[in-house]
Amino acid sequence: MSRRGVLVAGGAGYIGSHTTVELIEAGYEVIVVDNFSNSDASSLEGVAKITGVKPIFVEADCCDKEAMRKVFEEYDFDSVIHFAAFKAVGESVAEPLKYYRNNLLSFVNILELMVEYGRHNVVFSSSATVYGDADVLPVTELTPRKPATSPYGNTKQMSEDILRDMTTATETLNGIALRYFNPIGAHPSAQIGELPRGVPNNLVPYITQTAAGIRECLSIFGGDYPTPDGSCLRDYIDVVDLAKAHVVAINRMVEGRSKSRYEVFNIGTGSPVSVFELVRGFEQANNLKLNYKVAARRAGDVTAVWADTTLANEELGWRAERELCDTLRSAWEWEKNVRRIK
Ligand code: UD1
Repeated sequence: MSRRGVLVAGGAGYIGSHTTVELIEAGYEVIVVDNFSNSDASSLEGVAKITGVKPIFVEADCCDKEAMRKVFEEYDFDSVIHFAAFKAVGESVAEPLKYYRNNLLSFVNILELMVEYGRHNVVFSSSATVYGDADVLPVTELTPRKPATSPYGNTKQMSEDILRDMTTATETLNGIALRYFNPIGAHPSAQIGELPRGVPNNLVPYITQTAAGIRECLSIFGGDYPTPDGSCLRDYIDVVDLAKAHVVAINRMVEGRSKSRYEVFNIGTGSPVSVFELVRGFEQANNLKLNYKVAARRAGDVTAVWADTTLANEELGWRAERELCDTLRSAWEWEKNVRRIK
């Protein structure tokens, strides 16, 4: 089995496309599977422009096991990164089965096929959401997970458990769950970036769309939190730094350096940033003024969460490198490129 082959499920999406770039640049051969449910083919064209390499692409739904079986039959890879999941917290509350079916079935299919076809290494896209409203900050990987407050968060916890149990039950599987904090920004080339459909749920796409004139005004959800400036604190991680964390996780497993067959790492910067600070940072980085107002709190938001990244720093040899202002500049460059704004 080729140690240089990596199947990237959901590789046309936001984090998947950036990771595909980093894998190609690290010398891996990437096979992207995506059903374009929340992405489109332009991201793969962007990957090709950046790297000069067109990744192998199969249009398929990871929930379709027979379609996935064909991918395992046809292509030579020993590692899989599983990005193929829905991620809108509010939608998951309204349509839980959509989330349980898609996020869990896709992962179960992939793990079953990995066992059947003797493929070894898997990285799972987990989330800081597994910590919920943590009692002690920053959170380490040993911080107890809180009961999930949304079906989306529940699928992340359940998928972590499925992966842990499978690495225990088999002799052949190695797993790493990466708990992402808040991924933001875009590739410095502005060829790939985040392209949410409809009204963005997340802060930075809402900011860039407001700056582009697509949204009238950004609502800052809550100015009365018990934080220094009254807005929520998050750990905003640059998407290229995050993509690189996947490469080091794959390298670790491929080179047999894992300390145990299932490992978990926080992937963040380690620094809390408030919503007000982020908005100001965006204005300063891009030399513009944003139309915003303070609005009511959003149901389900935690006051603060940020990462202790010691484990990723020491064990993976990974750390966030890009400065927040550069990340916020890249987010705007990408939005301008997409909207053809000069
Ligand atoms: C959420 C999820 C996280 C998921 C991520 C990606 C939770 C608690 N968090 O992160 O698991 O991986 O989305 O989909 O389930 N904000 C505004 N105005 C806006 C949008 C956001 O003020 O228009 C604020 C929010 O209140 C929050 C911060 O910006 O304080 C970040 O929000 P967002 O980008 O949506 O990410 P999270 O809610 O932290």
